[in-house]
Amino acid sequence: MAAALPFCELHLHIEGTLEPPTIFALAAEQGRALPYAAPEELAARYEFANLPSFLELYYENMGVLRSEHDFAVLADAYFARAHRAGVAHVELFVDPQAHSERGVTERTVLRGLQRAIDDAGARFGISAGIIACVLRDRPVDEAERMLDAVLAAAGETGAPLLGIGLDSAELGFPPHRFAGVFDRAAEAGLHRVAHAGEEGPADYVREALDTLGAERIDHGIRVLEDPELVARLVRERIPLTVCPLSNVRLRVVDRIEELPFRELLDAGLLVTVNSDDPAYFGGYLDDNLAAVQGAFGLADDELSRLARNSVEASFAPEARKRELLGRLP
Ligand code: HPA
Ligand code: ZN
Repeated sequence: MAAALPFCELHLHIEGTLEPPTIFALAAEQGRALPYAAPEELAARYEFANLPSFLELYYENMGVLRSEHDFAVLADAYFARAHRAGVAHVELFVDPQAHSERGVTERTVLRGLQRAIDDAGARFGISAGIIACVLRDRPVDEAERMLDAVLAAAGETGAPLLGIGLDSAELGFPPHRFAGVFDRAAEAGLHRVAHAGEEGPADYVREALDTLGAERIDHGIRVLEDPELVARLVRERIPLTVCPLSNVRLRVVDRIEELPFRELLDAGLLVTVNSDDPAYFGGYLDDNLAAVQGAFGLADDELSRLARNSVEASFAPEARKRELLGRLP
């Protein structure tokens, strides 16, 4: 069973774990009214035509995240659910620019997440780190300021900042604009990852590797359009963090069976399965694993391979990786 294998979740937007009941609870604590009568009315809006239509609601809903406490409540709920899904290690994305524009500082965000990460370690034995994502549809100088602010906040608080990422609306926003920011992040010792090849073309994947020095590609399912690029990803062991339920709910494919999941595995790519924005896309890591198992008839040893891939693809310390690999059949 999936839950018995130790999985690393490497593509998880913590703001995308904000469930409607939590949105209502936080708004009530803050004495703020929401434009919906009940969580069910909000949940009924979770039908998306594409990535931008999802992002609109995603950014609107995160308006209830204002204090350290709010970020800790959000991440506590995620870790409890992730533990039930069999997640042993998480590298969670956060979008600091989406919070600083509302006056919420990078320090507040990182402190809240750090509290929840410490608790998850103590309660569940889950290890975790933070990847701060650049919003690619915003100006470069804003990304530069975000990087400075998260580095300073991590330095002050000791929050486990692992890396820099690239997310938000992809089409029309090629990776190369942020080469300078990613260079500086690497000099500061951060890992580099980037969303590419979700709605955008395979070329964006190549650009993320060549101009940003990306060590992992988030989504990346469109690489199959470019066999030379596939060969390079296989040769360089660059992982893809695939998010099956997300691809269906954002209409990248109409049905899960249309995902080229077998083709990616058969090409020898380092494929991992992840949940992206589970509160919005119909399921956490266990649900995503069950969905691909159902659609592609994965055998037990293929499921173990996905768990092994997730450990290899993670930025966990070597000792932690060895421990997790030791739990695999
Ligand atoms: N893609 C790009 N940006 C995002 C996503 C996603 O699925 N979720 C949150 N920000
Ligand atoms: Zn994502």
